[in-house]
Formats: sequence, C-alpha cells, structure tokens
Amino acid sequence: MPSFLRMDPPVHDDLRRLVTRDFTIKRVEALRARIQDVVHGLIDDMLAGPKPADLVQALALPMPATVICWLLGVPYDDHAFFQDRTTYLFRHGVADDVRNGKIAELSDYLYALVDGRNADPDLDPEADIISRLVVEQLRTGQMDRKGVQGIAFLMLVAGHETTGNMAALGTLALLQHPEQFKALGDDPSLAPMAVEELLRYLTILNEPDWRVAKEDTVIGGQLIKAGEAVVPLTFSANRDEGHYDDPNSLDIRRGARDHLAFGYGIHQCLGQPLARVELQVFYATLARRVPTLKLAVPLEEVPFKTDALIYGVHALPVTW
Ligand code: HEM
Repeated sequence: MPSFLRMDPPVHDDLRRLVTRDFTIKRVEALRARIQDVVHGLIDDMLAGPKPADLVQALALPMPATVICWLLGVPYDDHAFFQDRTTYLFRHGVADDVRNGKIAELSDYLYALVDGRNADPDLDPEADIISRLVVEQLRTGQMDRKGVQGIAFLMLVAGHETTGNMAALGTLALLQHPEQFKALGDDPSLAPMAVEELLRYLTILNEPDWRVAKEDTVIGGQLIKAGEAVVPLTFSANRDEGHYDDPNSLDIRRGARDHLAFGYGIHQCLGQPLARVELQVFYATLARRVPTLKLAVPLEEVPFKTDALIYGVHALPVTW
C-alpha cells in the first residue's frame, strides 16, 4: 500500500500530519448526526426490501464508504469500482500481476480525480481532503501528483474496508450473544464500550505489517537484533489471559479500551476516532431499530474471509 503506512519518520510524520486534523475527535463528533442519518436511511431501505438481506451490501459497507467519500471528495456513485479494487488488495492468493493491475486501476482513477480538481480554478480547499491537498500541497509545489494520489489511495482503502468488516462481523458476534444485542438496543449508552470490546474480541486486522529492528532492541526482556523482523500478532495480545479476565468471552460491559485492534505506536490507526463513531452509531441503531434481527442461514454457511488479510464476512444473510 502506498503512502505513509509503510514509511519511517521523518517522512511518515510529515505526511501523516497533513491529514491528522481531519480525524480529531472534535472533527468526527461533528459528523455523528450525518452518520446517524446515513445509518437510518440504509436501515429504512433494508427493511423496505426483500428478506433475507445481505447485511454487508445493505448496511455494513455502504456506511463507511459513504463517509470516506464525503471526507475525500470521491463520488459515492463509484463505490462498486473502488470496493472491488480494494478487495483484491487485501485478498490472499491473488496473482501479483492481477493484484498490481487492480492497484493500477484504482491509482489511475484517483489520479484522474486529483487532476480534475487541479484543473478547477475555483477549487475550495475546505471542500474535502483531496481539494485541500491539491491547493496547499500540489499547487505550491510541496508535493507532486503521486504524493497526493498516494494519500488519497491510503485513505480510501483504509477508510471503508476495515470499518465495513467490523460492522458486519461485530453484528454477527452480537447476534451470537442475543442478550448483549438486546442490552445494546435497550441502552444505547453501552455503545462506546461495546465497540471497544468488539474491536478487541474480533481484532480484524490480525497481523499488522512486520517490523524490522534498525538497531539492537530489547522488548519484554527479549533481544531483537538489528535486521531481525518482529511479527506483531495483535489478535493474540487482545486475548492475553494475563491482561484480560476470561479473554475468549465477549462482554460488551468489559470496558476494554486498551486493546491493540488499532495497532500501536507511530502507525496506530489514524482513522480510529472516525471508526469508533461509525461503529457506535451502527450497532446501537441496528440493535434498537431491528431487535428481531437474526441470521438467515446456519452459522456454518456464513462465508468468512479466511482468504483475506482483514477478517470479516463476504456476506451476512439476515432476516428479522
Ligand atoms: C474498525 C476499523 C479500523 C481498524 C480495525 C483499523 C486498524 C488499523 C491498524 C491495526 C492500523 C495499523 C497498521 C500497522 O501498524 O501496520 C491502521 C492504520 C491506519 N488506518 Fe486504520 N483501521 C480502521 C479504520 C480506519 C479508518 C476509518 C480510516 C480512515 C481513513 C483508517 C486509516 C488508517 C491509516 C491512514 C493508517 C496508517 C497510519 C500510519 O501509518 O500512520 N483506518 N488501521
């Protein structure tokens, strides 16, 4: 994946700083009411449509895709295109030339968006992130097209697939614990704690990028020599019985805010305040508005993403 996800400081920090302001708690809280409207609208459409419905396509993916499109200034009408390309990026077992072809198509699409913005003499830098980067970085010569495209690519890809997987997989986990789903519907103030616990319990990005030590380093009494790699298994940390009581149980009242589902250190997820608000609104609204929600197929028939870097479900057939 291009851009700062796989960079070291100082370049990483300089690039990340260009977009941190868009993901402060204050900025994303200001979006909460709009996100709530989107979720209500999607649930209205699902309830008005045929049963069973696929919760992934009806709710879980469109919510974060809509929001990241607002922020970046990407037309939502193109969602089928960019979701398809994103899927290839994270799927295991895709031939390199196929994956690279898909990445190139998504890159070209974003280059065209950047160029289109740059051609607009009245471009408003406050309109969206791409417009701001064009005005403040590209036109001032501080960044080239590739740099702007790279940030847009990272945001678009990181900003919807992860949250979409969490929304669907988290719903499934709640449906497997119906008393907790009901509790959330009865008391939406449980939503923030429920989101943290679901993030911990599911740890959908279960193997963040390997780290390579630049110099001899001791972590937890273990010497890691310069040049050696570390594979951070966050799902294991999030189920550490030395840290959590009964870690293999889901307990939305646990208050597990110290989990590692968003990573740790300088690459810790930039979009986590946004993901939190999206997921809080999502689970609480679904549990309140569709209390009879249930799986429409036996659990064994749910297609899990065992073939992808980010865990989730390919589809979640539900009825109510
Ligand atoms: C539930 C949803 C999400 C999960 C579980 C998640 C998880 C993660 C994790 C584990 C990392 C660290 C990767 C590493 O260290 O190798 C990360 C980085 C990142 N995430 Fe998220 N993410 C989520 C949603 C989002 C959203 C909505 C955005 C919005 C744009 C986003 C943008 C990013 C970016 C830009 C980085 C790279 C940060 C850096 O390298 O400094 N993520 N995410």
